[in-house]
Amino acid sequence: MSKEYNISVIPGDGTGPEVVAEGIKVLETVASKLDFSLNFNPYNLGGEHFKATGEILPDNILEKLSKSDAIYLGAIGHPDVKPGILEKGILLKLRFYFDQYINLRPVKLYEGVDTPLKGKGPDDIDFVVVRENTEGLYAGAGGCLKKGTLDEVAIQESINTRKGVERCIRYAFEYCRKRNKRKKLTLCGKTNVLTFAFDLWERAFNEVAEEYPDIETDYAHVDAICMWMVKNPEWFDVIVTDNMFGDIITDLAAMIQGGMGIAAGANINPQGISMFEPIGGSAPKYTGKNIINPIAAISAAQIMLETLGESKASSWIEEGVIKVLRDDLKNVGAGKMGYSTQEVGDLVADYIKGKNGKS
Ligand code: IPM
Ligand code: MN
Repeated sequence: MSKEYNISVIPGDGTGPEVVAEGIKVLETVASKLDFSLNFNPYNLGGEHFKATGEILPDNILEKLSKSDAIYLGAIGHPDVKPGILEKGILLKLRFYFDQYINLRPVKLYEGVDTPLKGKGPDDIDFVVVRENTEGLYAGAGGCLKKGTLDEVAIQESINTRKGVERCIRYAFEYCRKRNKRKKLTLCGKTNVLTFAFDLWERAFNEVAEEYPDIETDYAHVDAICMWMVKNPEWFDVIVTDNMFGDIITDLAAMIQGGMGIAAGANINPQGISMFEPIGGSAPKYTGKNIINPIAAISAAQIMLETLGESKASSWIEEGVIKVLRDDLKNVGAGKMGYSTQEVGDLVADYIKGKNGKS
């Protein structure tokens, strides 16, 4: 019997719905060629929904999402809604509720895509960041006193549990082994200043490393990583780091791989329900114009199929993305592609239609 997957879809805000539509187009095309099927269940969440109803992410929706095999997310964020409400109320809540403790960010410069790094090409920029996704400064620990007065105090604590750190590090070692490229894992931390948190990280890293003698290990402070990522990105294979540093370095990484139109990410619970998203945000100024680049959303869909175990489908999508970036798009920026959002989705889908699938 062919496999069937239930995919919850949260198109979200801004350009989210436009790029998600192209991702679904590509997913439907690939499923029709191969032996599995996908049911898409849309959920209306995000800034517009919040403005209209006051509802952010109700429990009954969380329950419904719990029954799906994966979540496909467009973008969350609205110019009229105070920063933090939707991000914490939807995106972070989903990550925490489903214990998606890994944020996986592949950073690959595809052929035909410009990088701002002079003299660097696709051979130099091909690494993956494994970011811890449920702890650190994102855990919400802390508080404020005497808010709005001259005596105001604000405390935001970084929570690092041995369990949380170790499972993230272990995932990174496993991923590095499976990826089977340079077999090098770099811990990104700040052991020279954050001597409590990163002492824990470093000890856990060194202990787990003993179980992976085939993986070369390395360490770099987060500030130095920013420097090396620009100067010598070819040094990296897999990087593992905490939530906050991972957030920061993956935006830098997205720029060297060609920008937000390309960058995809996954929020993974290896034993549970994972969520896949383009990391570019809601891009209000491009909304509704059919000019935003859907490749990041299509690549997020590709990682979703890989994670669900549909490797062949995933590699066909990646081949399609590679072909379209190399041969078709003039530029990856919104409005500069030489094609509309929908046409770019069609180009990837057309590539897949040409593959030899089931008869
Ligand atoms: C990301 C985003 C989120 C984060 C925001 C929108 C809360 O920047 O996925 O990297 O900080 O994790
Ligand atoms: Mn970010």
